[in-house]
Amino acid sequence: MTKERILLKFGGSLITKKNSDIPKINIANLKQIGKILNNKKYDLIVVHGAGSFGHPIAEKFKLINGLDESPEQKNSIKEIRNQMKELNKILCEIIESKGMKTKSIIPSESMKTRGAKHISQFPKEIFDQCLFEGNIPVTFGDATDDEIQGINILSGDVIMMELARIYKPTFSIFIMDYPGVMDGELNSKKSNLIPLVNSNMIDKFKQKMKINNTTDVTGGLIGKLECALQISRYSQCWITDLDSLHMALLGNPTGSKVIQ
Ligand code: IPE
Repeated sequence: MTKERILLKFGGSLITKKNSDIPKINIANLKQIGKILNNKKYDLIVVHGAGSFGHPIAEKFKLINGLDESPEQKNSIKEIRNQMKELNKILCEIIESKGMKTKSIIPSESMKTRGAKHISQFPKEIFDQCLFEGNIPVTFGDATDDEIQGINILSGDVIMMELARIYKPTFSIFIMDYPGVMDGELNSKKSNLIPLVNSNMIDKFKQKMKINNTTDVTGGLIGKLECALQISRYSQCWITDLDSLHMALLGNPTGSKVIQ
């Protein structure tokens, strides 16, 4: 019998030093993830973000706008893909060091997109095989070949939507460096957690919230909430932090639940 599944995304801001200009991991958080992930209750599917591995170069060479045919941009695409593979390898090694088997699924080699929010080619059979073998698929946000604009920055959030649609996991959880959706500044003690977030609220946030994260080329929190709203059609969807991961893996997520 197949076990129930949990789909997890580790935000780039959690596993790297997001504000660094050069790629820098957050080793404390990565180690913590390795420790907590060793669960037996659910089959896991893992997605991770980019943080300082990917975002700075993607922004500098304007990859969200597509190919500009310059040699500099061509090199930047290679560089981003290499950086992302490196970050993925680090996370996989940490997970494997705790006795779990992982399989890296590299989007630049196995996925194609049609614009930022639509994956036109997706390696479902590789995920299927990996899950069948009892291993943990680990994929990530990446620079993908795009059928419309040549190149695209595919966010791990969009991959989460696709995986939730296909596998309908019991839980889909975004593990961030903040405890959930807040009614004020994300990391301020004065802000309160919003336990339930629905589409009306997301519309209001869109008008109200000033996205001050200049290096996030994939839309920041609003983009994430839009993905989370889609995911909530197939799976219980939560946004939370690393402190809550242990309970989430036992079937008791906390944080902000995103509902229709
Ligand atoms: C972005 O992926 C991918 C690149 C910039 C190459 P995500 O959108 O999933 O990354 P984070 O979580 O915001 O860092």
